[in-house]
Amino acid sequence: MDAVTCTAPVNIAVIKYWGKRDEALILPINSSLSATLSQEQLCAKTTVAVSGQFTRDRMWLNGKEESLENPRYQNVLREIRRRARKRKIAGEGKGTSLSDALSWHVHICSVNNFPTAAGLASSAAGFSCLVYSLAKLFRIEGDISEIARQGSGSACRSLYGGFVSWNMGEKDDGTDSVAEQLVTENHWPELQILILVVSDQKKHIGSSAGMGVSVKTSELLRYRAEHIVPRRMKEIETAIQNKDFQTFAKITMQDSNQLHASCLDTYPPIIYLNDTSKQIMHLVHKYNDFCGEIKVAYTFDAGPNACLYLLEEDVAGVLAMVNHCFPPIEQNGDQYIRGLQVEELPIQKDLKESLGFTPLSPGALKYIIHTKVGAGPQVLPSTECLLDENGLPK
Ligand code: DP6
Repeated sequence: MDAVTCTAPVNIAVIKYWGKRDEALILPINSSLSATLSQEQLCAKTTVAVSGQFTRDRMWLNGKEESLENPRYQNVLREIRRRARKRKIAGEGKGTSLSDALSWHVHICSVNNFPTAAGLASSAAGFSCLVYSLAKLFRIEGDISEIARQGSGSACRSLYGGFVSWNMGEKDDGTDSVAEQLVTENHWPELQILILVVSDQKKHIGSSAGMGVSVKTSELLRYRAEHIVPRRMKEIETAIQNKDFQTFAKITMQDSNQLHASCLDTYPPIIYLNDTSKQIMHLVHKYNDFCGEIKVAYTFDAGPNACLYLLEEDVAGVLAMVNHCFPPIEQNGDQYIRGLQVEELPIQKDLKESLGFTPLSPGALKYIIHTKVGAGPQVLPSTECLLDENGLPK
């Protein structure tokens, strides 16, 4: 058995991808840009293995066997094998185990280091980890973001650390719709992230289904893709390069708001934000007004959780405000604030008065994850393998 084990990160977009021009190849109607989050707090870990003993392709996700029937998995596997075969024909893999590996079946085992129940998009980390591991196993070189994209659009951005853009491309075959690193994770070390995991029972329409209806029905989405995103991409890239937090933060909030406006403009409308999400938005603006400049920016994906971008020096102050407004439920054994450590402060008295916000009853937030911008996928030593010698989960 030949096996490779890797980890890959989650990414949170500041210019959002919403809408496909090709559903099968997963080609977007606009470019997007995200920060890759540190894998200390959030990552997927995947082992991929090939063996002449395996009788079919199999996959286990978070301890449960899942079908590989889904066309997205099929497309990824087909594309990996096609690229590996191309190398072999070119003579590079002759006489090596690559020739065997190509005719063998794969076993895939993947786990997340964070609860799936958190409602955090795990498909980006999962697909990017799968594609990265398969590419290492089959020794595929060159751009692999095109393959990850066919698993889940946003997954292509998780193949790099730092800030990453996904250029929409123009070609029908998608060969120019690839991810590219803008700056590494060391470029802006002061930038940190707080994920406010919002308690929520409701089932939401998934992003793929949601964006499909938006593309068909929202004129606002079309206008956004054609006229607004191209300008914003340029502006936010410059802001990131210059570490200009004011501009970065404003565009981030505006773009999140425009995604959710486009969802409301979809017919029938799609609403991902709940009351807690809206209270967070309101508080962020109040806090920034109180400070006289933008100190913190929110962004929301296809669900009610908030992701806050802020500088390290402001984390303690913002957490004090969040803790005051959204008190935790009495200790249930788990930590309320997880991840990077920061000194706990009480909320400033004059801020408390200026907010004019009556603290909500405890439990509107499940917990908070404190993290920072991080690196791209990593290869782990063979001791980390998730499969035993028979190719079954350990
Ligand atoms: C709101 O990448 O999950 O998070 O390509 O259909 O798998 P598919 O969609 P997905 O959509 C992510 C949408 C988003 C915005 C973003 O991450 O850019």
